[in-house]
Amino acid sequence: MSTIDVRGLGHTFGDLRVLKDVSLQAPGGTFASIVGPSACGKSTLLRVLAGLLVPDEGTAEVGGVSTVSRPGLVSYMPQKDLLLPWRRVLGNATLGAEVGGIKRAEAKRQAGALMERFGLAGFERAWPSQLSGGMRQRLALLRTFLAPAKTMLLDEPFGALDAITRREMHGWLQSVLGAEQRTVLFITHDVEEALLLSDRVYVMSPRPGRIIADVPVTFPKPRPSGAVLAPEFIRLKAELLGALGG
Ligand SMILES: Nc1ncnc2c1ncn2[C@@H]1O[C@H](COP(=O)(O)OP(=O)(O)O)[C@@H](O)[C@H]1O
Ligand SMILES: [Mg+2]
Repeated sequence: MSTIDVRGLGHTFGDLRVLKDVSLQAPGGTFASIVGPSACGKSTLLRVLAGLLVPDEGTAEVGGVSTVSRPGLVSYMPQKDLLLPWRRVLGNATLGAEVGGIKRAEAKRQAGALMERFGLAGFERAWPSQLSGGMRQRLALLRTFLAPAKTMLLDEPFGALDAITRREMHGWLQSVLGAEQRTVLFITHDVEEALLLSDRVYVMSPRPGRIIADVPVTFPKPRPSGAVLAPEFIRLKAELLGALGG
């Protein structure tokens, strides 16, 4: 289980300063979230950690190894699900594993074994266009799960879903993760979602993004959707909204 360690990260696109002195440490095996306003640099931070963008300043490490230009250290689910329309469900599920060097037959076996848990059983030969929004996101998550790297970066995976489907996904994701020891860095702009899923929530400032609050969440897991009604939960939500300026 790999610790995610970001220190003094800064980045500018042309004249646009996007990240400024971003530091965060998520211990191995924890579920950490980042909440922040639109365009504050959340996806940019994740792209640095995914090894896809070289930052101007600072360091980003996973398990003590620099991620700069090293895409294979983490499994990364970008903000757009990027399913390949010309591959069937099973072919999309195995993509991350195949890119990570796992043989196709073995990747298919691993994906097949998880179809049920990801709510995709019976849809192995369907095309992505035949899936509901929730199924598409579960498929994109399955692909991320099957990549060889066990540290996962998830960029607003439930952002496009309706509230009811999102609530189902929260319960489902907790049950899927409950069986695994994974380090997860999860981006959302939904404070309630962050509190429900995370061991720790980081708040980012408006652009240029930096970490302005770091809130541990200690409720026992898994957390039912009703956990949001507890007074302590409401207090933490107010604290996070206060940090966000809302
Ligand atoms: N490759 C890029 N070139 C120029 N500007 C970019 C690029 N990627 C992101 N930006 C800009 O950087 C800012 C932060 O983007 P992003 O990290 O996607 O924000 P967030 O995910 O928090 O909404 C935005 O203003 C966006 O337009
Ligand atoms: Mg984003």
